[in-house]
Amino acid sequence: MTMHSILVVGGTGKTGGRVAAGLRARGADVRVAARSADVRFDWNDRATWDAALDGVAAAYVVPLDGALLTRPFAERAARLGVGRLVLLSGRGVDVPGYGDPSSAVGRTHVDGEDAVRSGDVPWTILRPGWFAQNFSEGFFREAVLAGELRLPAGDGAASFVDAEDIADVAVAALTEDGHAGRTYELSGPRALTMAEAAAEISAVTGRKIRYVPLSPDEFVAELVEQGWPAGDAKEYADVVAAIRLGLDAHISDGVRHALGRDARDFTGFVREAARSGAWRA
Ligand SMILES: NC(=O)c1ccc[n+]([C@@H]2O[C@H](COP(=O)([O-])OP(=O)(O)OC[C@H]3O[C@@H](n4cnc5c(N)ncnc54)[C@H](OP(=O)(O)O)[C@@H]3O)[C@@H](O)[C@H]2O)c1
Repeated sequence: MTMHSILVVGGTGKTGGRVAAGLRARGADVRVAARSADVRFDWNDRATWDAALDGVAAAYVVPLDGALLTRPFAERAARLGVGRLVLLSGRGVDVPGYGDPSSAVGRTHVDGEDAVRSGDVPWTILRPGWFAQNFSEGFFREAVLAGELRLPAGDGAASFVDAEDIADVAVAALTEDGHAGRTYELSGPRALTMAEAAAEISAVTGRKIRYVPLSPDEFVAELVEQGWPAGDAKEYADVVAAIRLGLDAHISDGVRHALGRDARDFTGFVREAARSGAWRA
């Protein structure tokens, strides 16, 4: 594929930032779009969409959880001649009982996948499980710094996927042939319980981090006490339930299918995150 501009929606985030870096390393002209990026793009302000989409050959799309905006965005992309779309979705959207399909996140991904599949632009869908980077840049970082991961994950394990792998798959799908019409299920190469993940981070960083299993009710009550809206706290508990129920322990082969190599291991992620100072308070 000839390298024209490639749009990265959500290009300042965990996956988008890495996608943008990977594209630049390949010599692509990258257009990073977000509310805080040079190309100001706001999902909630459609007046900002055309400037982001105009003249790009392909786009990586991190959707806005809780909204149903991927469909009109994909339609607009088709109208403006975008040649391919790579959509970030999530593991389990097609698995009954994995999560609540009526939850804000569930609805975003179910509708978003349907939108790109039924649209006019060649597409690739990425379905990652829990990101390893949740521990270093996302939901779990504060808990790691506080030394206690308090979650309703029971003794369940998750096959955490490295966001570097998600980005590598996205870059391949954006720049190479052979990925159109594919849905890649992405995970790491092994499943770890929260206690094991905490132990790995402790071993590499020298910080004492322990996992404290909570019941879903205890977890929701703690979050509400910290000021979370009850509905958001319940949704968070529901998402973590997939780990407790053992639905996140399986290994997916999307990294190998897309890239012809194994997925990165959690230990490598921990070393890299520690090296880059992710857990410096
Ligand atoms: N974390 C996980 O374990 C996991 C697992 C599976 C799937 N997912 C899915 O991954 C997605 C999140 O991806 P990520 O972690 O790479 O993103 P992220 O780190 O949460 O970053 C979000 C990006 O979107 C931008 N953004 C946020 N609100 C926006 C708005 N209203 N308009 C325009 N841009 C906006 C942010 O930049 P600005 O704030 O500057 O706008 C940022 O660039 C979600 O859809 C989630 O469901 C996550």
